[in-house]
Amino acid sequence: MPAASALASFVIVANRLPVDRVQGPDGEETWRPSPGGLVAALEPVMHAVDGAWVGWPGQPDVELAPFTEDGMRLIPVTLSESEVQEYYEGFANDTIWPLYHDVIAPPQYHREWWDAYVRVNRRFAERAAEAVAEGGTVWVHDYQLQLVPAMLREQRPDLTIGYFHHIPFPAHGLYAQLPWRNQVLEGLLGADVVGFQRAQDATNFLAAVRRRLTHDVKGSAVSIDEDGARRTVVARAFPISIDTVPYTELAARPDVRARAAEIREGLGNPKKILLGVDRLDYTKGIRHRIKAFGELLDQGRLSVEDVTLVQVASPSRERVDAYVQLRDEIELSVARINGDHDTMDHTAIRYLHQGFPREEMVAMYLAADAMLVTALRDGMNLVAKEYVATRADNRGVLVLSEFTGAADELRQAVLVNPHDIEDLKDAIMRAVEMPAAEQSRRMRALRRRVLENDVRAWSRDFLAALDEVRNSR
Ligand code: G6P
Repeated sequence: MPAASALASFVIVANRLPVDRVQGPDGEETWRPSPGGLVAALEPVMHAVDGAWVGWPGQPDVELAPFTEDGMRLIPVTLSESEVQEYYEGFANDTIWPLYHDVIAPPQYHREWWDAYVRVNRRFAERAAEAVAEGGTVWVHDYQLQLVPAMLREQRPDLTIGYFHHIPFPAHGLYAQLPWRNQVLEGLLGADVVGFQRAQDATNFLAAVRRRLTHDVKGSAVSIDEDGARRTVVARAFPISIDTVPYTELAARPDVRARAAEIREGLGNPKKILLGVDRLDYTKGIRHRIKAFGELLDQGRLSVEDVTLVQVASPSRERVDAYVQLRDEIELSVARINGDHDTMDHTAIRYLHQGFPREEMVAMYLAADAMLVTALRDGMNLVAKEYVATRADNRGVLVLSEFTGAADELRQAVLVNPHDIEDLKDAIMRAVEMPAAEQSRRMRALRRRVLENDVRAWSRDFLAALDEVRNSR
């Protein structure tokens, strides 16, 4: 146990630390912000409280003592190369990820992966238990760590424990495939509050608990009998959002606005720029989006002189087979469409398999006349909210898949079923042709929603729910 003074009253536990350890061009080790929406959402929360963050530094076999970065106390968890393969790439990203995203890709079930998942979850729980003060609060995040709440409660019954699930929770008919379905539910029920993105996710979870376990379920409360004492777990939706401030600030900066104009110029000044921004992941519907755009060009409904699609696909989980295959498929179709339609001055699809700093992303959002979010399934989709946050000019169109958590809130977007390519094509045409007055009416309503419900409101609501449980004990 560290000295008492080193104990934190608030601890976040997430698979990744907010920074990743990476090798610089000269082989030197440096840190950069880690990928994905989770870190972007939690960073402002952490800056607001004096807490510690337990997580993996993003590389195998890195053994590091706790350190402070950007004012945050970080506690690294070491994963061996085989644990990265079996726990992270295997169970988290080739079993749970595809299963929970409605089996868009087939989940792989391997007992050794499960064993590694249990072992690594225990390690995270131990690190958190060592870091947190008596009676403190631990907030566990996401599908990589579903067993941590119960493991932590077993070691430290004095704690208040929250868990937030950033991805969808599937219907029982799919969830029931999981060979370890009961253990995972029991793991999550170690928390006092289990938070989900959408009401439907919470409903699916509660239905699974009702079907598979013997606890009483009433409304959003699960009542657990622990050696004669009753404990209540609350499971409900807390839709996550973004920190809107850096987006509105960057969008107002003259240099960022100038960069947006430069981007348009660099693309040959097309009348309309369409934008897609995703991790390169099969849940994001990138192939469907590209197919729809390609067909519109083939049919002459759009031309490359008038419209360019910019697709940012940031590299992700590059050693998992499904991701390797997806990259090949996307790059083949981009090359075909560009080969058929490009001219010397205009390109159909400007494809960027890279990540970009936030400033450059905001410049792209400002340059984009329409943002295409066509995920087949997505817990929330924060890119949709980022786009809206930057558009203080009330221009631009958000085309948004019905299968994202964001669609529950952002009703004034042009909502689409990305499986229906004709619907997707019509939505793209609507976005390209939408009159300024309609853009403005929709964007105003979207902005109100996003600016009023930012990530601070999200964490405040979640932590208030945790407080309520603590006070009722
Ligand atoms: C999603 C998940 C996060 C994850 C992120 C990036 O947003 O909800 O938990 O960190 O993707 O994925 P990666 O596998 O690179 O951490």
